[in-house]
Amino acid sequence: MTKRNKLHIGMSLAPTWLNGDAWRRPDSDIEGIFGTDFYVDIAKRSEAAKLDFVFRPDSLFLNAAVLEDGPGFSALDPTILLAAIARETSRIGLLSTVSTTFYPPYVIARQIQSLNWISNGRAGWNIVTALDGNENFGLPAMPSPQERYDRAAEFAGVVRRLWDSYPNEALRVDRASGRYADPSLIRPIDHEGPHFSVKGPLNLPACGRTRIPLIQAGASPAGRNFAASIADAIFASTPDRDAATELRKDLRERAVGHGRKADDIRVLPGLSLYLAGSREEARDLFAETHARVDRARKITSIRDMTGLDLTEWEDDRAVTGADLPEPPQKVRSRTHSDLLRRLILREEPRLADLLMRPEVIGSAHWQLIGTVDDAVAEIRAWAEAGAMDGFIAVPGGSVDCMRLVLEQLVPALAEEGLFRQDYAGTTFLDHLTE
Ligand SMILES: Cc1cc2nc3c(=O)[nH]c(=O)nc-3n(C[C@H](O)[C@H](O)[C@H](O)COP(=O)(O)O)c2cc1C
Repeated sequence: MTKRNKLHIGMSLAPTWLNGDAWRRPDSDIEGIFGTDFYVDIAKRSEAAKLDFVFRPDSLFLNAAVLEDGPGFSALDPTILLAAIARETSRIGLLSTVSTTFYPPYVIARQIQSLNWISNGRAGWNIVTALDGNENFGLPAMPSPQERYDRAAEFAGVVRRLWDSYPNEALRVDRASGRYADPSLIRPIDHEGPHFSVKGPLNLPACGRTRIPLIQAGASPAGRNFAASIADAIFASTPDRDAATELRKDLRERAVGHGRKADDIRVLPGLSLYLAGSREEARDLFAETHARVDRARKITSIRDMTGLDLTEWEDDRAVTGADLPEPPQKVRSRTHSDLLRRLILREEPRLADLLMRPEVIGSAHWQLIGTVDDAVAEIRAWAEAGAMDGFIAVPGGSVDCMRLVLEQLVPALAEEGLFRQDYAGTTFLDHLTE
């Protein structure tokens, strides 16, 4: 494998290793999740493993119903959290998640560029169109997916032009002549579009001369098109290798259609890892973690994603394509709904088995349950099949599992030549493009 083909690896700062029942373990440090020490510790461990970036997903609503069993998505603001982490790290990329559906672009251009200054060029923006939260922003309903992506495209275009509106070259800082900047290089953007009217320029210069990487999450046709037009990488849900291979091939073709190079877009699936010393222990860890996940909630989730109500079904009955109603018009995420439908069409699983699949209990991420060696072999197989360019690690089950990922799995991948041994550059873009 050439240097150019090395994997790009990110680490989730959403403490997925405390999901399910894992937060109840004595060493979980669950009390720390609204402070910074908890995340600085993970970021430092991730930097010691030479990962490309740490990544914070985000949502802008509270699902109070799930708080009975765990923290759910109640969380610190991601960009503020990453600013605190920036002070405690020096090389690792810092990927914040910001929705284009709810905020004004000027504020976001400034916040992400601020993070870029605070971290010396290590900021990245994970662009989401969001799944929920409209009622917190005066919107009676979520805009349709097409409207959300139209707005996202305009939003991201405005942000990029604002970042260019006060270029770093404009700074002169010449004490002798008294000339601080060259205003002729600073220009308004005079943007007038369907969603935004923004004059500019931004009131903060660009930090250095490299771009801020853009990542996108969402893989419907509209989401793919948007990602292929603008993003350096897509955060994907691909529970099986075929789904990942198809997504990567399609995105690379779409990127070329947008006048970019196929290599300009990278596919980074979420990778849920339940690792332990033996396969049996890993399977136990997975089962223990999900033991309490409520059946009724899983059934509701399947109904919301597919329109199929399995409340009265026996565990042994197979769920087949013939049972699936016409796709519901409105789903929260077309990506997740399509993945679940594909699974049912392809495997016709028994209900009991379906209820344990990542498409139902997780975020439809690629799932590995086993030893570190098993994980290395599977990651190598996906890389060699051209299914992905790296992954975002979402360890599960326990603090021990999270540490196995950072302290054993990633070094093993580096040892095998699949991942870097050390950082070559200093910015987030350097890591993604090396
Ligand atoms: C892997 C993945 C991760 C996502 N992470 C977030 C997130 O952190 N916050 C958020 O508001 N939406 C998130 N989304 C939702 C997407 O931004 C998007 O709104 C949703 O998937 C609908 O777009 P689609 O029809 O293209 O899938 C995520 C989606 C995917 C597939």
